[in-house]
Amino acid sequence: MTLRCDLIIRDATILDGTGGPRRRGDVAVSGDRIAGVGDLGAWTAEQEVRADGNAIAPGFIDAHTHDDRAVLCGPSCMLCKMSQGVTTVVVGNCGISLSPVRMAARPVPPLDLLGDESWWTFGSFAEYAERLARTPAPVNTVALIGHMSLRVEAMGGDTQRPATDREAEQMRGRLAESLAAGASGFSTGLWYPPNMMAPTEEVIAVAEALRAAGGVYVTHMRDEGGGVLDSIAETLRIGREAGVPVVISHHKCTQPENFGRSGETLAAIDAAAATQDVAFDVYPYAAGSTVLMPSRLRDDVPVRVTWSIPHPEMQGRWLADVAREWNTSQREAAERLLPAGAIYFQMDEADVRRIMAHPLSMIGSDGLPHDAFPHPRLWATFPRVLGHYVRDLALLSLETAIHKMTGRTAAVFGLADRGVIREGAFADLVLFDPATVRDAADFDHPTRPSPGILRTWVNGAPAYAWGEGVRDPHAGRLLTRGRA
Ligand code: ZN
Ligand code: CU
Repeated sequence: MTLRCDLIIRDATILDGTGGPRRRGDVAVSGDRIAGVGDLGAWTAEQEVRADGNAIAPGFIDAHTHDDRAVLCGPSCMLCKMSQGVTTVVVGNCGISLSPVRMAARPVPPLDLLGDESWWTFGSFAEYAERLARTPAPVNTVALIGHMSLRVEAMGGDTQRPATDREAEQMRGRLAESLAAGASGFSTGLWYPPNMMAPTEEVIAVAEALRAAGGVYVTHMRDEGGGVLDSIAETLRIGREAGVPVVISHHKCTQPENFGRSGETLAAIDAAAATQDVAFDVYPYAAGSTVLMPSRLRDDVPVRVTWSIPHPEMQGRWLADVAREWNTSQREAAERLLPAGAIYFQMDEADVRRIMAHPLSMIGSDGLPHDAFPHPRLWATFPRVLGHYVRDLALLSLETAIHKMTGRTAAVFGLADRGVIREGAFADLVLFDPATVRDAADFDHPTRPSPGILRTWVNGAPAYAWGEGVRDPHAGRLLTRGRA
């Protein structure tokens, strides 16, 4: 008997996303699903791809992104992710989501990371989902609804205070409505000024909407520096009281006096994980990036400018050099650059490694796709883990690293039949060379595609090929937690 399918990838090293050991074999695809895995010598296909021993893995899931707008603006916006082997992105992180709020004027930072008012046109998540359905993105999208967006919608410009009970109720209602329309969770960015005044009780009141819908709570915590343990405790309390799983975003210990404290934070998370559902994501760099915040500058944290509306000529420059050139303090120079974005060299490499190697971590880029001179995590997160941390440093095995980019992430976000290579799962796949894959983008050249990532497929369609770029600009779907 001859079995026929659409595509066979032959003679590959199969990393199935579960963390189990690699094996040699073939992978067959029919329509949008994997039709067979193993020795498929008796099968024939419309198209055959010879892997020659290269690795085939489930397409990478970027656990933490700000791609809300990038998924809407065509293949050129998503090349940064597709060239890393990414086939699914989780949008709406850090309290920032493009819906459900319209803006009449430039939004306050950090909402402006997604663009000026011309992009804020979705009064409901249903409208955003409808746009994604009408003009599908090249990758799959999992959407979170941001607390900051909900606050601006409910409270207008008056966010420097706790929400009233009525406002919290309105936010909870908007969140419930969004979850019903296909969103998967709720995110906060309690570190940012427009949210800082929100007490824990306000967050719990809004997060209650998650329980009935089976959503997840995701947070850029109130404090990742001196108060990081208190922030972890707050996050865990929100999860317990709302009765939902929690994800700590881009887990890190910031500021030099907190270097080395990931030992304590991971112990606290481990202890909680025995009784509640908790996960975290991490990016493979000892520097973070967000909007430029003059009041939070420190002499011992070097800063590089990623964008500036009034002074685009300073993009890519060290803030200290800009200040010297303008013959002023760094704080004054930062004030003049606003609105602007920055990279903060504020972490310890040993912490980054300990967090990445921890069994509960997933890989998320936190890339900022609209920055003029972005942090290299936007283009190079996944290849950097595979090249630098797996191959060069042997910090973790290839199987474990792939699991943190695929199967683990799909489980945390409840993505049915994704993140694994097995018969019947969706055919989101990446073909790469483990011997050569590496991050080409760096802090001086932040927008280079990564060699070694050879091809991807999204829902069975050829999505990306090295040297060719994006092949199918519309193969992606909106994925919803718990739904196939
Ligand atoms: Zn964040
Ligand atoms: Cu973020």
